[in-house]
Amino acid sequence: MTQIRQPIVTVAGHVDHGKTTLLDNIRRTGVAESEAGGITQKISFTKVPLENIKRRCSLIYEKNIKLDFPGFIFIDTPGHAAFSHLRKRGGSLADLAILVVDINEGIMPQTAEVIEILKLNKTPFVVALNKIDNISGWKKQSEDLKENIEKQPLNVKLNFDEKVYTLIGSLHHHGFNAKLFYEIVDFTSQLALIPCSAKTGEGINELILMLCGLSQKFLKNNLRLGEKARGVILEIKKEKNMEYIEAVLYDGILSVNDEIAIASFSEPIITKIRFLEEILPVSTKFKPVHKVIAANGIRMQLITSYEILPGMPFITFKNDLEKIKEEFKKEIFEKIKTDDEGIIVKAHSLGSLEALINLLREEKIKIISAGIGKINKKDVIAAQTNFSLNPLNAVILGFNVEEDEEIKNLDKSKIKIIKNDVIYRLIEDLIKYQKEKNDEIKKSRLMELNVVGKLRILHNFLFRNSNPAIFGVAVESGKIRPGLTLINENGEEISKIKEIQHENKQLNEAVSGMQVAISLPGVNFERQLKNENFLYVNLTENQFRNLKNNKDLLTLEEIAILQKIAEIKRKENPCWGI
Ligand code: GTP
Ligand code: MG
Repeated sequence: MTQIRQPIVTVAGHVDHGKTTLLDNIRRTGVAESEAGGITQKISFTKVPLENIKRRCSLIYEKNIKLDFPGFIFIDTPGHAAFSHLRKRGGSLADLAILVVDINEGIMPQTAEVIEILKLNKTPFVVALNKIDNISGWKKQSEDLKENIEKQPLNVKLNFDEKVYTLIGSLHHHGFNAKLFYEIVDFTSQLALIPCSAKTGEGINELILMLCGLSQKFLKNNLRLGEKARGVILEIKKEKNMEYIEAVLYDGILSVNDEIAIASFSEPIITKIRFLEEILPVSTKFKPVHKVIAANGIRMQLITSYEILPGMPFITFKNDLEKIKEEFKKEIFEKIKTDDEGIIVKAHSLGSLEALINLLREEKIKIISAGIGKINKKDVIAAQTNFSLNPLNAVILGFNVEEDEEIKNLDKSKIKIIKNDVIYRLIEDLIKYQKEKNDEIKKSRLMELNVVGKLRILHNFLFRNSNPAIFGVAVESGKIRPGLTLINENGEEISKIKEIQHENKQLNEAVSGMQVAISLPGVNFERQLKNENFLYVNLTENQFRNLKNNKDLLTLEEIAILQKIAEIKRKENPCWGI
């Protein structure tokens, strides 16, 4: 008979909604309290054998439920980085998931991210509506959850119902038909909501029962142990000069001295296991073993010291390099695709890198290189190279990663490093930066450009005929400044503007819509301008071409002036500006 392995259950949800506390309650541990700032930083796993589950959940005995799988592997995830989900070949590492939602807060951004990942991977899940003890007036009067919900005072029950309906509505938007667990008739098409409190323990019995039911009914066929050992690297830890690799073994049996192939961005790393450990039940400690059966949390020491990257898959190696290469290629290179141009991205693990790339693709942001690990010298050099091609791409995006010491003294004045542990904030920051940078570039390009302007002569406002000629003009479009040369409609140079005046004040600039007086030395108005109606700011051919190349910065009026000037100049020289 084939062996049935433990289902892997991911606990995911918005930050602080109670994932770690819920697991503590199931395991009877106190991990949440010992965490720095009460925040989970890294993915972790716990093995809970069936006997612990049965001991914890009296309903299994009471209802005499037969369970054929050996327990659960729970994976706790940090809420602030919902996308640090784990992948395995062909989908998610999780066989099942618990989506933890604080009933008083409802669906938050990271809850929505998790729902979308679960949907994408078709992972079956249940929703733990946590913190019911925080609902005002809530009392625990019965060990049975359904009975207790019904026994609440009327106003408390109404408040509870309203929260549940709102949630059902939000989940409907995500495409789920959700119901309170005791109203479910078909688990394949309906999503179970289990109200609970990780703090008081209410509802945890029912939650475990649901997980057991789903595993027994729907997963049993998927839980048959495969021939090859397969796993995913979670973390590389250095302790006292020793390198430990923490991983989840999700299929097969792994033995010490087995040869394994670990995926990397180049050739697979083929290595032997020197030292193998498995995680102890309901504990964070490991014990040395000769053999580990999936699913399990493991710790290894390898005989090689190649750089192993978190999130990478591994598999037992049996002289089948070509087959393995093909499999890894599908796993990695087809998912982590890059473009010929774009920004540089770095992430903590393969799973988070893939998630980041997918989201950037949705925003139509291009990526020239993608990697795992600290932001290093290579990344900085790539960003510097980008600067000369397109300054908007001189960006390194770091998701949940730090900067390597080696880049401390490098010149980073032309590049931008954007880091964040929250994926959507990272992307928001990038978009904001690129927009600001784009505006800045446009502005400086605009400063370098020449002024275009068209003036209408106001013949009724001739203040002085000559030495210099002073008369009124309306700026029809564009702008004028002192020092600019004006031409008439035949392209003849009239003079340089000496001064611009408006209500006895001298101006540095007059823009479209203004009426001002200008003074032109060396001009005799009666003789030269009496029959003219319009004057234009003169442009050399180079200036004209420069403006034409930066047309995106000009207004429609300014483009019309450019066309007019080209028309005037071409009367003299048909090749002008072409
Ligand atoms: P991250 O790992 O940072 O994403 O948070 P988390 O989802 O693991 O939440 P955690 O378990 O650390 O709980 C956050 C806070 O909520 C802690 O102060 C818990 O004591 C509290 N808490 C968790 N569950 C409950 C509950 O059912 N009722 C009440 N009243 N408080 C709870
Ligand atoms: Mg936590």
